[in-house]
Amino acid sequence: MKKALLIAAALAVTTSASAAGKLEIFSWWSGDEGPALEALVKLYKQKYPSVAVDNATVSGGAGTNAKAVLKTRMLGGTPPDSFQAHAGQELIGTWVVAGRMEDLSSLFKSEGFDKAFPKDLIKLISTNGKIWSVPVNVHRSNVMWYNPAKLKAWGVTAPKTWPEFLKTCSTLKAKGVAAPLVVGENWTQQHLWESVMIGTLGAQGWENLWAGKMKFTDPKVVAGFTTFGKVMDCANKDASGLSWQQASDRIIDGTSAFNIMGDWAAGYFTTTKKLAPNTGFGWAPAPGTTKTFVMLADSFGLPKGAKNRTEAMNWLKVLGSKAGQDAFNPLKGSIAARTDSDLSKYNTYSKSAAADWKSNKIVGSLVHGAVAPESFTSAFGAVIDQFVASKNSAGAAAAAQQLAVRAGIGK
Ligand code: GAL
Repeated sequence: MKKALLIAAALAVTTSASAAGKLEIFSWWSGDEGPALEALVKLYKQKYPSVAVDNATVSGGAGTNAKAVLKTRMLGGTPPDSFQAHAGQELIGTWVVAGRMEDLSSLFKSEGFDKAFPKDLIKLISTNGKIWSVPVNVHRSNVMWYNPAKLKAWGVTAPKTWPEFLKTCSTLKAKGVAAPLVVGENWTQQHLWESVMIGTLGAQGWENLWAGKMKFTDPKVVAGFTTFGKVMDCANKDASGLSWQQASDRIIDGTSAFNIMGDWAAGYFTTTKKLAPNTGFGWAPAPGTTKTFVMLADSFGLPKGAKNRTEAMNWLKVLGSKAGQDAFNPLKGSIAARTDSDLSKYNTYSKSAAADWKSNKIVGSLVHGAVAPESFTSAFGAVIDQFVASKNSAGAAAAAQQLAVRAGIGK
């Protein structure tokens, strides 16, 4: 009898919790990438203690696996209540054009987000006066990471241009460093390609490429591919089997000298590995990209048909708030997307990124969704794979041009 009563009581508790609300958020931030998101969820739970949060994640750097699962769910009519997507063309060119997202412009007004975020960022997440997602951060893609003590021991400094990088690479090889550069699986090679290309074309050239004013078959782009091929010759041969975290580990343990990765690597070094900026790890702009900040922003949107719409709207309010951004970003390695964040909460690396965000020329990342729709980015992976195998620059440039036409780049 007693047992039956206990069961009845337990059931009552479960029912009242679910009646009070649920929220499912969807992202690729699991494991090492999880702590910043967990801090945000904690803040949400403080505000909405009766809501049961399902923090659904599909692991895999840059969302390679999560985006595929999301696609199935969106097309199957079971969207999460809110999901991670990069600010810009990744969301707009995919789910916004398909009419699957809710317009958030009234939320931006009521929460003052329209004034809190930089104008250019709002432009990136808008079409025809409608705003499609709430940015939680700004990440920098063009960063070269190194281990200061190891560079000193090898007697080299961080190269400032790609030709200089190739020279440093030869120096290091002569000193017995088999792979001066470490890269990982396909998307991290695309990430490297992006920095090599921007370092070759310059910020303006990069913008021209995505505006359709410069073709991929332009000799400058072909030359960029050739440099990328030489840079890949400095890299480890087991790249395809490494996650970005495993590549970062090789900087810390001194197997390789350099890695080009977004500043989620700073989050990994500080939050997961407990290393201090400047001593535990060092950084510089990727060669050839000094004074250029290649940006991307993680954002969350509200899909049409979300089961728990009110809870999802409250989630968006929390992640766009000053408290939300300052809870999330110091752990993530990114800076707040809002202009009023409290910099005293951030480490030396993030402070330097925040200063560059204000003073540098800003361009958008390809691999992380700012400048091209998902249809281009996902197909571009095969172009990189083929190029790395063949080193055929003209062929890769022609293939990329075909993809660009198909994806309507510059239209
Ligand atoms: C990016 C994302 C970052 C980080 C990274 C590695 O696409 O914007 O926040 O998660 O992938 O997975």
